[in-house]
Amino acid sequence: MKKKFYITTPIYYPNDIPHVGHAYTTIVGDVIARWHKLKGEDVFYLTGTDEHGKKIETAAKKKAKNPKEFVDELIPEFKNAWKKLNIDYNRFIRTTEKDHKKVVLEILQKVFEKGDIYLGEYEGLYCTGCEAYYTKRDLIDGCCPIHKTKAEKLKEESYFFKLSKYKNKLLKLYMDNSNFILPKFRAKEIINRLEDLQDLSISRTSFNWGIKLPFNKKHISYVWFDALLNYLTGIGYLKDDKKFSKFWPADLHIVAKDIMWFHVVIWPAMLMSAGIKLPKSVFVHGYWTFNKEKISKSRGKVISVDELISITGNVDSVRYFLLRETPFGQDGDFSEKALIERHNNELADKLGNLVSRVAGLIERFGVKKINNKLLKKLNLKKIEKLFDNYEFDKVLNEIFAFIDICNEYVQNKKLWETGDEKNLYELKESILKIAELLSPFIPESSEKIIKQFSAKKIKKSEILFKKI
Ligand code: MSP
Repeated sequence: MKKKFYITTPIYYPNDIPHVGHAYTTIVGDVIARWHKLKGEDVFYLTGTDEHGKKIETAAKKKAKNPKEFVDELIPEFKNAWKKLNIDYNRFIRTTEKDHKKVVLEILQKVFEKGDIYLGEYEGLYCTGCEAYYTKRDLIDGCCPIHKTKAEKLKEESYFFKLSKYKNKLLKLYMDNSNFILPKFRAKEIINRLEDLQDLSISRTSFNWGIKLPFNKKHISYVWFDALLNYLTGIGYLKDDKKFSKFWPADLHIVAKDIMWFHVVIWPAMLMSAGIKLPKSVFVHGYWTFNKEKISKSRGKVISVDELISITGNVDSVRYFLLRETPFGQDGDFSEKALIERHNNELADKLGNLVSRVAGLIERFGVKKINNKLLKKLNLKKIEKLFDNYEFDKVLNEIFAFIDICNEYVQNKKLWETGDEKNLYELKESILKIAELLSPFIPESSEKIIKQFSAKKIKKSEILFKKI
């Protein structure tokens, strides 16, 4: 039987169009999904949108629309953006879908019957941008550390999830399974914060847009309790048992550091309470800035997916840049200059040059099969290991070091003079391997290269990466 791999992105708030930050997570997810497909695994890649809650309700009100109408208009923005970026997902889940509502109601009921939900009163400082309460200590001058807006004082009757009850189980989870939180250095911060773990308020009465609690219709489910469950709905929980039991537990949730807490504390505790197996890993990546400034509509610069692609006019450059520029897990800075430099110096001058030179030489001289010594210089084992360790920048480095070797080979052997068909055969096979390895990162260009170099008559073709 084929090995399975279930990978997810966060479901994004459709209160605005997606930007480079959302694109980054979704591209990384796609690269990992494509890599596992390349290994012959049965992959399910889930992404989507988080459509309930006060944040969406407020954004809709501002546009004088009802929330559903408002999000319906934004969903195509997400789907089109992912299409343009060549994201090959299996499902785009929306939390306003019927099957998801059913899942949320069932889990709420289950956790309630287990005795893990009780009625209490909540008074706290709330940030609508985060859809989360803060303690005074977390705020900076009374303002949210992320959105810099004043936190509102809210007091409401609320149901609570007995999160604190799971403290020791959570600690044990991190101890027993050192891959649960990746990169590993992130775990320490969580373990510290677990010290004074409080129960979690999971219902609201101050607004309407959301799923009503099955045991008290006056209360709306907290948007995070609803949203996290998308990972179950997405692969058919309560709907398609075969699919669900095949793909659950998730192999990898990808999130950024802003929502780590929800995924490594609240989410596993919810699953423990509901008696459902836990995901295997949550990978927490860093945050991108744009020209060293925060990416935010209110406080800085936002770069849309269309703008992103238009800088080089090439989607693959964007995908390549985002994975090459910063180690996965660290913060990064996006700038047009850095993108153009990598496009020119690496994609055009190294990869593009190799492909076009060798194609031209093969067109002139042809190839003759021999034992390939050149290809042996490619360290496949190392690349696989780096990939499985999520060190994508190093994977690309390794592949590009081999591209350098191939370019030098053409140069040193003076192939334009010798026309050595055996050497050209070595290069042809090497280029095919390079294209295969690069296909998760730059699928469109890789496909072109593979098509060109597996043809009966190899010919020079149009330039892959036009220099800027
Ligand atoms: N709706 C919640 C997630 C629910 S998941 C069950 C949410 N949505 S969001 O629209 O705010 O998206 C947050 C995610 O978008 C981050 O975790 C990250 O994946 C991505 N990013 C948003 N801005 C980003 C950067 N500036 N840099 C890197 N990733 C960023 O939170």
